Amino acid sequence: MNRFVIPTRVYSGTDCLEQLERYRDRNVWVVCDGFLVKGGAIARLLEHLDTERVSLFSDIMPDPPITTVVAGIQRLQEIRPQVVIGFGGGSAIDAAKAMVFFGRKLGIRIETFIAIPTTSGTCTEVSSASVISDPALGIKYPLFDDTIFPDIALLDPQLVVSVPAAVTANTGMDVLTHAVEAYVSINAGDFSDALAEKATQLVFHYLPTACAKGDCLHAREKMHNASTLAGMAFSQAGLGLTHAIAHQLGGQLHVPHGLANALLLVEVIRFNSQEPRAVKRYARLARLCGMAAQQNDDRAALNQLLNHIGQLKREIGIPASLSQLHLGAERIRQVMPAMIRTALLDSTLVTNPRLAQADDIENILHAIN
Ligand SMILES: NC(=O)c1ccc[n+]([C@@H]2O[C@H](COP(=O)([O-])OP(=O)(O)OC[C@H]3O[C@@H](n4cnc5c(N)ncnc54)[C@H](O)[C@@H]3O)[C@@H](O)[C@H]2O)c1
Ligand SMILES: [Zn+2]
Repeated sequence: MNRFVIPTRVYSGTDCLEQLERYRDRNVWVVCDGFLVKGGAIARLLEHLDTERVSLFSDIMPDPPITTVVAGIQRLQEIRPQVVIGFGGGSAIDAAKAMVFFGRKLGIRIETFIAIPTTSGTCTEVSSASVISDPALGIKYPLFDDTIFPDIALLDPQLVVSVPAAVTANTGMDVLTHAVEAYVSINAGDFSDALAEKATQLVFHYLPTACAKGDCLHAREKMHNASTLAGMAFSQAGLGLTHAIAHQLGGQLHVPHGLANALLLVEVIRFNSQEPRAVKRYARLARLCGMAAQQNDDRAALNQLLNHIGQLKREIGIPASLSQLHLGAERIRQVMPAMIRTALLDSTLVTNPRLAQADDIENILHAIN
């Protein structure tokens, strides 16, 4: 049996923040990145709410740590809002998701949880996941639970226009990785395939423009939609080895999530290509994106996919290797055993199309260095 559920209501377009007006008579708590308060983006939300009834929690940093979630839950218990809004990149929305998840377990009656993304990448606005970090142990924990989906997602492309080119590139590669991993996942089905195919096509078509001309609202809208489509795909089908290792690069070395995926994706595809079913899936995706002709055999089509990913990465300025991030060879060597150990335990690994052992992960990490 295959199950397909999207519990989140999605509103998109430049006027979608108007949906917030329904909550003018509610106490609203906004969990957001401090940058959005300082930069003024928060005003775009506040114009649709009763500001007297809004309180802010703006202490979110990239890769939110458990301590921030705990502080947020304490605040949630004091404020007891009816509506919670997670506003920002994946870090702010994931922190809000974890706070709402535990807050509801503590008996706080949150009627509506709204996610408003300001980056196009993590698709956390429609996923059942929240990734929280433990900096002391250098581990990122993906928490998966069906009750964690936001009730509403508002996709306003105007909120993304200010994202710098490098963050656009990294988060865009995260979208591509979600789509590709969902497509070759052992749990992929027709429903997740349709979403992953469209998301992949949109990324190859619009990511270069979104990076080069950040104010192109059309490209921004397409990438914002691609992110959400890819999120719906992987919420159904799961992810794979790229994410299992990327979580360790984030946890131990603070490599931005999308960048970690961008560095790993090609090597993981090469690794998975020892599995005949995966080769067929990658080849099919390459053909659907117009990278390979129908008459090309599967291996040739797969190579085209690898070439196009490489070309996309160069075009949007993704570094060629981990060493270009100047993290220090000794530091990488020191954390390598821990990264391999925890990658093997990462919950995203179970849907990868090929079984990965410690040696395989080590080889992939060496290959990207
Ligand atoms: N829950 C999920 O399903 C899921 C999936 C993938 C990744 N993640 C997690 O999401 C986090 C990464 O999220 P992210 O890539 O969106 O980055 P982020 O939220 O960490 O933000 C990256 C940077 O961009 C800035 N920023 C955000 N919006 C901006 C805007 N509109 N204009 C200018 N700057 C802006 C932030 O201030 C920050 O400095 C990681 O913790 C990752 O593990 C979660
Ligand atoms: Zn991701």
